[in-house]
Amino acid sequence: MTLEIEQFMCRSDNFGVLARDAQTGETAIIDAPEESAILSAIERTGWRPTMILTTHHHQDHVTANLALKERFGLTIVGPAREADRIPGIDRTVEEGDTVRVGAQAAHVIETPGHTAGHITYHFADAGIAFTGDTLFALGCGRLFECKPPVMFASLKKLMALPPETIVYCGHEYTEANARFALTVDPTNSALKERAAQIRILRAEGKPTLPTTMAKEMATNPFLRGHDPVIRRNLGMQHVSDEEVFAEVRKRKDVS
Ligand SMILES: [Fe+2]
Repeated sequence: MTLEIEQFMCRSDNFGVLARDAQTGETAIIDAPEESAILSAIERTGWRPTMILTTHHHQDHVTANLALKERFGLTIVGPAREADRIPGIDRTVEEGDTVRVGAQAAHVIETPGHTAGHITYHFADAGIAFTGDTLFALGCGRLFECKPPVMFASLKKLMALPPETIVYCGHEYTEANARFALTVDPTNSALKERAAQIRILRAEGKPTLPTTMAKEMATNPFLRGHDPVIRRNLGMQHVSDEEVFAEVRKRKDVS
């Protein structure tokens, strides 16, 4: 059972994704950042979308909803908590709900923090998660609508996914994230190696996504509040993992 993925750039740094169930051919669009880039991907692949899976209400994730709905008659799925801010929404979902794309099932995980209703779609059988603007490669979303403990709890849910889970995110922010990560975790050899690979990929104009949970657990400072070296670097040996997370987020905000 395979979920085929077509990932492409939209706007300046958003990712667009088509996800197609190989068995039935049913295809979902994950967020809708830009109509023309999505139409090009549909043309290129020949895949015909029947739904949009929305992670959160921000304009750069929903802007093409109505145009795509009109063109393809597709169903728009999104978080119940943000339904009033998602254009054209047909079906609202919450924690524990299942969304089917052909023979593939996505479990809805509520991951508030970046926005108060943000959700992640986890295709457990395919081993793929679409984390929107909750988790990024070497980063996490800015806390526009929630306090740090809320985002920390969301990231902990993602950290509980199998390490081999392949993660697609909403933005190509990895190079800047790597620069920041090295300021709080400069001696992490896995991070240094990854940062070097990222610089090469970006210099070649290539995407740095997808990532995996295992890679993020080893190198993403927002998931590593338990790490004694990061704690020592921050002078925070005797506080909770959540407090370390809050400090890392605060530093990134002003970096
Ligand atoms: Fe966002």
